[in-house]
Amino acid sequence: MSLQFQPALWPSTTRLADGGLTIGGMTAVQAAAEFGTPAYLLDEADFKARATGFRDAFAPWQVFYASKAFLCRAVARWAADCGLGVDVCSLGELTVALRAGVPPSRIGLHGNNKSDEELRAAVASGVGRIVVDAADEIDRLETICRERPAGASPIPVLVRVTPDVQAHTHAHVQTAVADQKFGFAMADGSALAALLRLDSLPGVGLLGVHCHIGSQIFDYDGYDLAIARLVGLLAQFRDAAGRELPECDMGGGFGIAYTGTDRPLAAAAAASHLHEVTQNLTTAAGLAPLRWSVEPGRAIVGPAMVALYTVGVVKQVNLPDGPRTYVAVDGGMGDNPRPALYQAEYAAWLANRASKAGPVRARVVGKYCETADVLVRHTFLPGDVRPGDLIAVPCGGAYQRAMASNYNGSLRPPVIGLRDGVGTVLVRRETLDDFMALDVWR
Ligand code: LLP
Repeated sequence: MSLQFQPALWPSTTRLADGGLTIGGMTAVQAAAEFGTPAYLLDEADFKARATGFRDAFAPWQVFYASKAFLCRAVARWAADCGLGVDVCSLGELTVALRAGVPPSRIGLHGNNKSDEELRAAVASGVGRIVVDAADEIDRLETICRERPAGASPIPVLVRVTPDVQAHTHAHVQTAVADQKFGFAMADGSALAALLRLDSLPGVGLLGVHCHIGSQIFDYDGYDLAIARLVGLLAQFRDAAGRELPECDMGGGFGIAYTGTDRPLAAAAAASHLHEVTQNLTTAAGLAPLRWSVEPGRAIVGPAMVALYTVGVVKQVNLPDGPRTYVAVDGGMGDNPRPALYQAEYAAWLANRASKAGPVRARVVGKYCETADVLVRHTFLPGDVRPGDLIAVPCGGAYQRAMASNYNGSLRPPVIGLRDGVGTVLVRRETLDDFMALDVWR
């Protein structure tokens, strides 16, 4: 096994030199010296290229950035500046998007259990769409509609539909099978009933349907089946209501390469496939052309960010099939719970120097008091890896800093934007004072 750098896993500006990795024009050594570790390094140019890549590939479809993957004001702004909408799923995310200056009409609100406060905030700010997930939510919307002044503009809604499709991905990130919490089932007629009920509500502007089949998906089967079922539902609605709905959102889910064995769909290929399938199916159903949209999160921010850690302890364990080198770094499951939650696999690279040492079988672990605290389960690193070295883990943008916790009393890492050799703190490192500020016992 040799150590082979795989550019496809890294932000497009990543370069290898004797002094180690450079991202966005800044070396990992400089970034660590200036901002400390653990840190998340976000390549601004790479993020924007992926965002505009999706926008252009999917045009005329609308692209919403699924901000649950990672959100801060800078990123919300970049997404909007690149012509994307922003999909939010809580009052917190809505607040960030609004305070970043994202036009409310380009924001969509999701959630399977939105609070009254969230619904009211979304309506008051004038978001472009609320994706309705449950009958109880329709009751709440009805109440909100009654409270609004006469003549208020209708609340734009889509209905989240569960097409009972099994996406080929980890069970924890499948979201359209029958036995889960999201949306209205199609099979038992709940989805059609929800559409008809919303259509009859004064104050609501029913736009269409929405589904999201899952995340980290590498093939079209699930999308194709979901599209066929959604188009069928829209035809049923037309037959029952006597009018056609104009919109359909297919959610996100486009997978990325975390390791050299992953084979993601390119945005352009996915777009042309989905364009063709949707066109054929809507024509066959006799429907007028729809306004389609997608909501990629991971595929935009995932590869644009790299997690940077410092090695503290190197330990060899001897196993029946040979030694394994455990490389313990200053982060772990507190900043990246994905390996523990989804058995996610990652790659790793020695980032502060080039090494001629032969590869050793290695596992990168964190500093948390759990055996599950593994960052990179299977990798190879140079045999001379030692305390003080920097380890970079690519594809760190999606669902890592966003899912970070204070487990074990740890402080969440910063997010540093890198561009043309300049690093900008986008989200600062948590301090002990931040951490203790919530503990208000006297
Ligand atoms: N739209 C909706 C309604 C969603 O629920 C999601 C993700 C997306 C779009 C974006 O999906 P993406 O393009 O990022 O795959 N924490 C898990 C992933 C959870 C995804 C939740 N929903 C992980 O770390 O793999």
